[in-house]
Amino acid sequence: MSSNITTRSATVADLTAILKLHAEVFGPGRFTRTAYRVREGTPDISPFCRVAVHGDRVIAALRMTRIKVGGEGRALLLGPLAVDPEFKGQGYGRQLVAEVLDAARAAGVALVVLVGDEPYYGRLGFTRVPVGQIMLPGPVDPMRLLAAELVPGALASTSGLIRADRA
Ligand SMILES: CC(C)(COP(=O)(O)OP(=O)(O)OC[C@H]1O[C@@H](n2cnc3c(N)ncnc32)[C@H](O)[C@@H]1OP(=O)(O)O)[C@@H](O)C(=O)NCCC(=O)NCCS
Repeated sequence: MSSNITTRSATVADLTAILKLHAEVFGPGRFTRTAYRVREGTPDISPFCRVAVHGDRVIAALRMTRIKVGGEGRALLLGPLAVDPEFKGQGYGRQLVAEVLDAARAAGVALVVLVGDEPYYGRLGFTRVPVGQIMLPGPVDPMRLLAAELVPGALASTSGLIRADRA
């Protein structure tokens, strides 16, 4: 990791750079993903969103969305996580996830859910959600639906459909 790179909360001023990074990293297919349906209509920048910056340049970004699962709150949807290809594999993705989980735990969030690669997120504290326990408003590969408990037992006591928490 470079000492010239720092991490901080994302602000509205970062939005243009974050959206550009998403376009570069994920391409045009990104809007068809089911997780986007959950996030639709929610603020692009919310309190847990975080970025890594090199000077003025956003080199990694992690979006977090407050959700309810089966009508219950105290949960977050993690993603997208995007790291500039030039800075891949240098620990910034892992660092942003760890920092966000710490902040969420401190704020009383019980569960963080995501759709992503288990080989990557498994090392960061996420496990597979039992098939059928948590649903999104669209198709999701059940092998990629993962969750991290920030309160012990939170996953076992959570089930149902994920919706954005607009409260
Ligand atoms: C996937 C991504 C978020 C990882 O962030 P990163 O900062 O490059 O990765 P980190 O430095 O935190 O971690 C690197 C480690 O994760 C591994 N890794 C990276 N992507 C992986 C994946 N999809 N599955 C399994 N392992 C992966 C690397 O091999 C490396 O392993 P090592 O520590 O044993 O060498 C980033 O590369 C990225 O934006 N990729 C394109 C978008 C994407 O696929 N996002 C998926 C999440 S929505």
